[in-house]
Amino acid sequence: MTEAILLVGGKGTRLRPLTVNTPKPMVPAAGVPFLTHQLARARAAGVDHVVLATSYLAEVFEPHFGDGSALGLRLEYVTEKEPLGTGGAIRNVADRLDSAPGDPVLIFNGDILTGLDIAALVATHRSARADVSLHLTRVADPRAFGLVPTDDDGRVTAFLEKPESPEDIVTDQINAGAYCFNRSVIDTIPAGRPVSVERETFPGLLSDGAHLQGMVDSTYWLDLGTPQAFVRGSADLVLGRAPSPAVPGRHGDSLVLAGAHVADDAKLTGGTAVSAGAVVGSGARVDGSTILAGAVIEPGAVVTSSLVGAGAVIGARTVLEGAVIGDGARVGADNELRHGVRVWCGAVIADGAVRFSSDQ
Ligand code: GDD
Ligand code: MG
Repeated sequence: MTEAILLVGGKGTRLRPLTVNTPKPMVPAAGVPFLTHQLARARAAGVDHVVLATSYLAEVFEPHFGDGSALGLRLEYVTEKEPLGTGGAIRNVADRLDSAPGDPVLIFNGDILTGLDIAALVATHRSARADVSLHLTRVADPRAFGLVPTDDDGRVTAFLEKPESPEDIVTDQINAGAYCFNRSVIDTIPAGRPVSVERETFPGLLSDGAHLQGMVDSTYWLDLGTPQAFVRGSADLVLGRAPSPAVPGRHGDSLVLAGAHVADDAKLTGGTAVSAGAVVGSGARVDGSTILAGAVIEPGAVVTSSLVGAGAVIGARTVLEGAVIGDGARVGADNELRHGVRVWCGAVIADGAVRFSSDQ
């Protein structure tokens, strides 16, 4: 059995306003807090003990997941007094690990939806006799990620976090946010101060000659850090394109949770998820969207690739496309909100107040 650390302390700034009241890993994707999918996948890969490294809105994790037994896991929670960064968070939970110095410990960013073969990462780590192994994926534009070039044997040659100068864009392989560390390496991270595993630990290990091994694959991979990505990820879970044992229902065009009410002539498509207590009115069309608990989509509204927060109301005939509506917001009837617009939690938009125009 293997242990894992999940990094779930980030502020989720890019997901605001959804992360104003809820930390990013607790925002529901396909009807359950996103973290559930990661925990269930780790469990399915043989992980039995998980330590959650929490910071921002730390208090909400334990009431939901408890001791982890519902997921077949032993879960522990460690909260940083001040955010310690990714490396500092890992070091901060080291005393909760049972692993011996030579044992592999899995570490996951808390906002990644992926089909990673977790057991294969551990196997690669063992056969390469690496100090740290990293899951890598290829993306068209790597600039927003950690760039990780490797040699012919897959050994990591550099780690360049979010490089700013064009000459540092040396590869399209990026850090996919899942690592296998030898326990002893975790104990070398300095304690009691912020450390970035990407900017400090990995470059430092490389310059000390440590063996960092990359495992590149082309499985499903998405960082759910932006609203567009979050909605996409939730829809892919519902459609069955992204693998998770924790989707609460059958895969298909839509997922309607118990206690939601959808009118017979409403149309739900493209992996739309409707949480408990939400209402979708007559003639409404909802495509590729996530409707959180208690939200109301009034008759005739057209919602596409959008996230509607808990208890929010979308007025009759209103059109949303690529919009994020904060918890408890009220968008009146006959509005048109497009292109990444964000409505803050509790905000009120009057009937017919917003129109979209493509004219400049
Ligand atoms: N406990 C704790 N404390 N967790 C933290 C802290 C902290 O101070 N800061 C960040 N985290 C957690 C976040 O909650 C998230 O799960 C993870 O660490 C990574 O932080 P992000 O803020 O999501 O980083 P990113 O997406 O910009 O970049 C990271 O992920 C990319 C892949 O998506 C880096 O690891 C990149 O190298 C990588 O390519
Ligand atoms: Mg991220």
